Amino acid sequence: MRMRHALAAVMLVILSLGVANAQMEAGDFIEKPLSRSPGDPLRGRAIVVSRQTGLCLLCHSGPFPEERFQGNLAPDLSLSSARLNAPQLRARIVDASHFNSNTIMPSYYRTEGLNRVAPKFAGQPILSAQEIEDVVAFLVSLNNNNTQ
Ligand code: HEC
Repeated sequence: MRMRHALAAVMLVILSLGVANAQMEAGDFIEKPLSRSPGDPLRGRAIVVSRQTGLCLLCHSGPFPEERFQGNLAPDLSLSSARLNAPQLRARIVDASHFNSNTIMPSYYRTEGLNRVAPKFAGQPILSAQEIEDVVAFLVSLNNNNTQ
């Protein structure tokens, strides 16, 4: 348990990189998909469970029976996707700090105004526009009542 928290802290430093140019609207959602091609839920799932790219399970849990270690620092992703639609999910993944300036969640598609960015990573979002859309498509797929 303690190990995982330490790991989370280390990853945070590495992960606090930075967005490109997604449009936040009314402070709550990003209506327009970031990429031209639609998100692929299967690729999105792979990103969410990945310990290299998404790292979501460092903090979140979700419907991933094959994943032994899941986080308990953040809401279960199936609950969030039941509550939030695609534009709201997109906004939270792009820039979690917009919603809570003290959040521990990395802003996955933001490059401006971030601290603790290793020079090598400056100006690069953590996930690409397409990867963000893949993750959004996956989260939406968890809840069939959600509209894209
Ligand atoms: C280092 C921990 C951490 C990581 C990694 C992380 N999150 Fe989060 N996330 C949080 C926390 C904590 C919250 C609760 C919001 C807050 O901090 O105020 C949150 C909130 C969210 C929300 C909004 C939840 C709601 O119900 O309002 C979504 C959606 C989300 N995260 C998705 C993701 C996805 C997808 C990934 C991976 C690409 C990810 N998170 C990675 C910690 C994390």
